Amino acid sequence: MSQVLDSTVEAFLQAANPAPPPVLEEMTDYGRDQNFPVVGPDVGRFLRVVARLADASRVFEFGSGFGYSGAWFLGALPDDGELVLTDYDEENLETAESFLSRLDTDATVHYETGDAMATFEAYDGPFDVVLVDHEKSKYVDALEDLRGDLAPGGVVVADNMMAGPVEPEAVTEALRGADPVDDHTASVARYIEHVRDDPEFETAFVPLGEGVAVSVKTQ
Ligand SMILES: C[S@@+](CC[C@H](N)C(=O)[O-])C[C@H]1O[C@@H](n2cnc3c(N)ncnc32)[C@H](O)[C@@H]1O
Repeated sequence: MSQVLDSTVEAFLQAANPAPPPVLEEMTDYGRDQNFPVVGPDVGRFLRVVARLADASRVFEFGSGFGYSGAWFLGALPDDGELVLTDYDEENLETAESFLSRLDTDATVHYETGDAMATFEAYDGPFDVVLVDHEKSKYVDALEDLRGDLAPGGVVVADNMMAGPVEPEAVTEALRGADPVDDHTASVARYIEHVRDDPEFETAFVPLGEGVAVSVKTQ
C-alpha cells in the first residue's frame, strides 16, 4: 500500500496506535503477502471511529476484497448490526468469511458476489456508513446511487483520493484545471469536485493511508 504521509508521521502513528487485534494483524500480513490493495491499519482504525461517531448499525462497502476494511467496521457494530461486503471475486469473499467468522461479534455479515452497484440496488436503506473502494470510474455513480439510502448524518468514505492508482501531485494538478494524466486521475478528481460541491454533504479530506474523502450527509 502506498502512503501519502511522510515517514515521521507514519512512525508517530505506529507508536501512538495500539497493535491491531490478532485477526487484523493476520489480515494485514495476508494483504501484504498477496500484494492486495487494502486500506491499511490507519484508515481501518479511522473507519471504525467513523462508524462509532455515526452510531452505525448498518454499513455497506462498494468493493470489499478479502474483508480487511470490513473487519475494522465489524468491531464497531452492535450485535443487531449489519455489514454488507461486495466483490466481483467470489474467492475474495470466501477468504473474507474465513477471517471475519473468527471475530467476536454477533453482527450479521452479508457476502455478496457480483457488481457492487447492482447489489446496492437490491438492498433497502438506510445505511449509516458507506465505503466506496471499487472502480474509480464508478465513484460518482455510487454516490448518486447511495445518497437516497444514506441515513441523515450518515457518512460516505471514499478511498484512494491521493494515492494507490493515482499520484497526489497529478490529482492536485487535475483539480487546478490541467488535463488529467490518466483515467484514474480523471475519475478521482471528478469525484472530489462532485462531492465537495454537493450541498447535501460536508466533506473533509484525510491524508491517512492512500487518502480518504469523508462526507457527512447534512440534509
Ligand atoms: C481496493 S480493493 C478493496 C479493498 C477493501 N476495501 C479493503 O480495504 O480491505 C477493490 C475491490 O473491489 C472489487 N471491485 C471492483 N469493482 C467492483 C464492482 N463494480 N463490484 C464489486 N466489486 C468490485 C475488486 O475485485 C477488488 O477486490
